[in-house]
Amino acid sequence: MPARRPRGLFFTCEGIDGCGKTTQLNLLARYLRRLRLPFLLTREPGGTELGERIRKILLSGASTGMEPRTELLLMFASRAEHVARVIRPALEAGRVVLCDRFTDASLAYQGYGRGLDLAFIRQLHLFACQGLKPHLTFVLDINPRTSLRRARRRNTTARREEGRFERETLAFYRRVRRGYRALARLEPRRVKLIRGEDSPAVVHQKVVAHARRLLARLTRQVPR
Ligand SMILES: Nc1ncnc2c1ncn2[C@@H]1O[C@H](COP(=O)(O)OP(=O)(O)OP(=O)(O)O)[C@@H](O)[C@H]1O
Ligand SMILES: [Mg+2]
Repeated sequence: MPARRPRGLFFTCEGIDGCGKTTQLNLLARYLRRLRLPFLLTREPGGTELGERIRKILLSGASTGMEPRTELLLMFASRAEHVARVIRPALEAGRVVLCDRFTDASLAYQGYGRGLDLAFIRQLHLFACQGLKPHLTFVLDINPRTSLRRARRRNTTARREEGRFERETLAFYRRVRRGYRALARLEPRRVKLIRGEDSPAVVHQKVVAHARRLLARLTRQVPR
């Protein structure tokens, strides 16, 4: 059964650990608040009560050595819940959904990074998410050395217990980065590559430049 066409807008932010996704989504959320556009800020893995429990399993250092297939299936288990219970209803209500990682992360990390079959991951997406696609995806493209330094510094300061991926090798992150770049080449209209080394303000300007035209559709619907 084809899914109903939602009225809202679905934006996702992607890139390797520490590239600045959360920072940029918070800035974009502030921008939408100023425009008085109703939005939902959410993340993966997670975004639902069950999804957040799966997130703990996935990101905990205690899960080191998890089978790549297990990792992929847990990511999609969390995503299936998230799409059905949170993302689709919000889009149907006409909201802007800002999601920190989505299926592109599975293609980049479990596909390009861990070597699982990309075509199979796409099939899994059709099954788990009924093919729901973001309208726009921002990939913050950055040298892994820089972004891992940022992520590690932040984890030490915030005492986060989510460091499993950040302990991966640089070679792994180079593959993931190449994966995101390949995804941007495959779908240039949807996936926008943005230089992650620039300041948060400069990156934000670029994000807004890409989002503005789509958002204009909604601002016309929303009484000011
Ligand atoms: N453009 C930037 N320049 C310098 N530092 C930045 C920039 N963007 C974010 N940071 C800092 O780098 C760290 C990581 O940023 P952030 O948490 O936004 O990245 P992330 O992509 O969400 O990471 P993760 O994948 O681990 O969730 C934070 O301490 C943040 O303040
Ligand atoms: Mg983050």
